[in-house]
Amino acid sequence: MSSVPLSEAVAALIPRAKTELAELVAFASVADWRQFPKSESQKAASWIADALRAEDFRDVEVLDTPDGTQSVYGYLPGPADAPTVLLYAHYDVQPPLDESRWLSPPFELTERDGRWYGRGAADCKGGVLMHLTALRALRGQGGVPVNVKVIVEGSEEQGTGGLERYAEQHPGLLAADAIVIGDAGNFRLGLPTVTSALRGMVVAEVRVNTLQGNLHSGMFGGAAPDALAALIHMLASLRDETGATTIDGLDGGGEWPGIAYDEADFRQDAKVLDGVGLIGTGGVSDRLWARPAVTVLGIDAPPVVGATPSVQASAGALVSVRIPPGVDAVRTGEALRAHLTAAAPWGAKVEVTLGGSGQPFAADTGSPAYAAMAEAMREAYGREMAEAGNGGSIPLCNTLAGLYPRAEFLLIGLSEPEAAIHAVNESVSPQELEKLALTEALFLRRYAAAHSATQGV
Ligand code: BES
Ligand code: MN
Repeated sequence: MSSVPLSEAVAALIPRAKTELAELVAFASVADWRQFPKSESQKAASWIADALRAEDFRDVEVLDTPDGTQSVYGYLPGPADAPTVLLYAHYDVQPPLDESRWLSPPFELTERDGRWYGRGAADCKGGVLMHLTALRALRGQGGVPVNVKVIVEGSEEQGTGGLERYAEQHPGLLAADAIVIGDAGNFRLGLPTVTSALRGMVVAEVRVNTLQGNLHSGMFGGAAPDALAALIHMLASLRDETGATTIDGLDGGGEWPGIAYDEADFRQDAKVLDGVGLIGTGGVSDRLWARPAVTVLGIDAPPVVGATPSVQASAGALVSVRIPPGVDAVRTGEALRAHLTAAAPWGAKVEVTLGGSGQPFAADTGSPAYAAMAEAMREAYGREMAEAGNGGSIPLCNTLAGLYPRAEFLLIGLSEPEAAIHAVNESVSPQELEKLALTEALFLRRYAAAHSATQGV
């Protein structure tokens, strides 16, 4: 058996990872069939199933989940008595948004200034390649020392819970000793990070109706109840004067116990314009990782071009609330509904429809797998591992933690701040892909070794 350092084995696999990431990015696998055909997602799923079969995975299956999307599962048996590690990623992506603002086509992986650009390059198709590259490196260097389960979800970005429901209905399927969620990111490029908390999320659509039809704003404006004005008033009531979220019945005073996110760094990461202040109070880490945050995602109102001088009869908005660990998503949805309904002025008719939601997540940072990951990151990056929260959501984490209370969770991935996930011109850093694939391979080795030591094997 040839034996080069694992780092060299991983490095040699990066050109292949680039070719394959380009194939995967080329599928417009947005799990919203109103925007993109389902066949794009199906092609991505079968690409992943083929990739797993090529690595000798058993029981490879494309699973139909209750939300009408597909997840890909596979199992690679390891040595007898080895622990089982579940590797997670998702192949669905956010829509590209305004394609004209991409400097290269969103579904064509394009190298520029040392990064690879394309929708899903970091979130989370790069995560698929991170897992594959780690496994390939190990297979060429003596073998994969653990039993591996891979699950790649097809609708994570929609919050429609397909894989969550499927996992609950098949409670043994994803059982594992350790679960590596490859869908998070380093706190900053090149700083190895394990994410220990994620926010959950609730989405609600609110509709306001006040009149049978639009009216001339000169003849009727001033006395006619304006639905758009009512909506603006209701939405404004979700914040105080600092911009902090204020939803009746929802605690907004949490504090993040871990690393502090420097305000100047945050301004830079978020590209805040000079002279514009941040919103909320307390430390930036508190605001991002320990408190609820409301965002108005969209408003149905006449666009500026083509607007007529009219009082609107109806208006609508899509509102999200991100919630920190300790806050329940179902209760938050009800609180949001009650708040918006109560805030409606003039007896305006309000309808609130709750949409996709996900629970927040907090990992146990004292677990043995954490120690193995810290060593792996130190070796791969030559730096100490950091631990941070993240304001994003991965709803499946909470489902898996409920199903497998003893499993150890490790959240890593390629979505560092420069990756611009969910925005135009998303990209992945190839160096980060290489270092994280190496980290994951080293982690699997150390975790297997630590496991056999405690088992006395
Ligand atoms: N990968 C992200 C979440 C994330 C980003 C975690 C960076 C840690 C670091 C994930 O794909 C995501 O964006 N999820 C959605 C889920 C939502 C629709 C329920 C999100 O957070 O908007
Ligand atoms: Mn995402």
